[in-house]
Amino acid sequence: MSARHYLMCRPEHFTVTYEINPWMDVSKPVDVAKAVAQWERLRDTFLDLGHTVDLIDPLPGLPDMVYAANGATVVDGVVYGALFTHPERAAEGPAYLQWFADRGYQTHAADHVNEGEGDILTVGGLNLAGTGFRTERTAHAEAAALWGREVVSLELVDPRFYHLDTALTVLRGSDGSAETDIAYFPPAFSDEAREQLEALFPDALLVGEADAEVLGMNAVSDGEHVVLNPNATTYADQLRERGYEPVPVDTSELLFGGGGAKCCTLELRGEPSSTSAASA
Ligand code: ARG
Repeated sequence: MSARHYLMCRPEHFTVTYEINPWMDVSKPVDVAKAVAQWERLRDTFLDLGHTVDLIDPLPGLPDMVYAANGATVVDGVVYGALFTHPERAAEGPAYLQWFADRGYQTHAADHVNEGEGDILTVGGLNLAGTGFRTERTAHAEAAALWGREVVSLELVDPRFYHLDTALTVLRGSDGSAETDIAYFPPAFSDEAREQLEALFPDALLVGEADAEVLGMNAVSDGEHVVLNPNATTYADQLRERGYEPVPVDTSELLFGGGGAKCCTLELRGEPSSTSAASA
């Protein structure tokens, strides 16, 4: 395991006042104190595992800002900004990009709609990128050109799994290291995407509907420990058999917004290119 560097956003302003995915229901009340307590447990779990967690200030009126994975995608210290599909989340893109600019990262404001690491996952030397509900294929090309890396487009077909990170976990190699391993729920993908995944990752772990439908795939792996929904019990068994240590953390309150542990966690890869901005 290598120590990871994550960015998270405390759900102080978390609520469900709009519906942009099938998990969200404005008629169901949200318990903010419970969401914050669960989120703190998630952050503490990462710290206990030896990882570093940076925080971005939550902004009022942006209830989904807790889903930090959507804020940007960071590869080799180069930040590809998010450009959201729905106007309700639009202001999150610039807020996250500013956080990175203030810390000396090389930032790139996107020309094409993309929802950050929710859809653009790093697996070793390549990136897997979801499309179909949020992120556009043109953004995959934009990211590939920015980083000089291969980005493989995968079409998602089930609205419950609207971001790639709701249907696929990067078990090894999310930090860009060469050894890779993934798990996914095949029915979330188009036939073509499934064929691509089978060709690229013939030994991938295939996960069943019961685990996927509790957003079990929305898990955070450091290559050894996999932080996941406690209700994804079969997935946890499969992970244990494969040599991983499942670390169940309850994020049930954040599921009301359609997100789990991974949605709340943006992985930072590489260092900022300059530190001058931070001290300016
Ligand atoms: N309510 C948010 C949305 O629909 C949830 C985002 C979950 N994030 C993720 N990385 N899958 O946009």
